[in-house]
Amino acid sequence: MHDKIFMSASRPIAVLGGTGPEGFGLALRLAQAGETVIIGSRDAKRAQDAAEKIKERVGASTNISGSENNAACSAADLLVLTIPFEGHAALLKQLKPVIRPGSIVIDATVPLAASVGGRASRTLGVWQGSAAQETAELLPRGVSVVAAFQNVGADLLNADGPVDCDVIVCSDDPAALQVTCGLAAKIPGVRALDGGKLENARILEQITALLIGLNIRHKGHSGIRITGLPVAAYKPA
Ligand SMILES: NC(=O)c1ccc[n+]([C@@H]2O[C@H](COP(=O)([O-])OP(=O)(O)OC[C@H]3O[C@@H](n4cnc5c(N)ncnc54)[C@H](OP(=O)(O)O)[C@@H]3O)[C@@H](O)[C@H]2O)c1
Repeated sequence: MHDKIFMSASRPIAVLGGTGPEGFGLALRLAQAGETVIIGSRDAKRAQDAAEKIKERVGASTNISGSENNAACSAADLLVLTIPFEGHAALLKQLKPVIRPGSIVIDATVPLAASVGGRASRTLGVWQGSAAQETAELLPRGVSVVAAFQNVGADLLNADGPVDCDVIVCSDDPAALQVTCGLAAKIPGVRALDGGKLENARILEQITALLIGLNIRHKGHSGIRITGLPVAAYKPA
């Protein structure tokens, strides 16, 4: 079902928290790929301003708009979560009544200690195992949760040119996983990889903390590439 739903670029993708660097960068890349994007925010005006900035960058015919998070969520079947972990559970509880059955929620949230005043290069322990698994626990059955994009830094997404990074995608719903791989692979330079079950999200989230530490230590914008797999594993090559 998901494949049919999301093959069409006219189906909107709501990026919740899309006013921040990570969500803005993803919204930008998806808009550049021709997707219809709704930026979500706690403040509708902030969302509209972010959408306007993307339109200026991508072109006037870009299909992008901005709404308050609940309105963005109720207008889309494909949701991307890019908010700090501190607001994660509260936002999901707020969105629960408006998330449509059959939706896909792609969670890029990383439970960084920085979100509660700790070090950016450390993660917090999450009872469910990972932020993405917390999402799965908090949302109704029939909503598919996917973990992706944790290891792609906002600096890379917001820069011009290709993104030198692989995106590992994890989900317990194979169809939702494939939809997300298809979206990720629309970002120039990105290869998307099936990373297995949602429980592997805890590893993706830990890798982000490692990358942040590397960025601080070496003053760069690190990403990851997975080597040694058959060409067919990478979508697209
Ligand atoms: N930045 C990166 O390079 C990067 C890379 C990989 C993964 N991530 C993960 O992606 C997520 C977003 O990262 P970011 O750097 O873009 O974060 P951010 O700037 O701190 O937050 C993103 C947006 O979330 C909204 N927000 C902030 N606090 C909130 C709360 N308590 N409840 C609901 N919404 C709230 C804000 O939008 P409004 O005020 O407009 O609502 C904000 O613009 C984080 O979980 C982060 O760990 C980030």
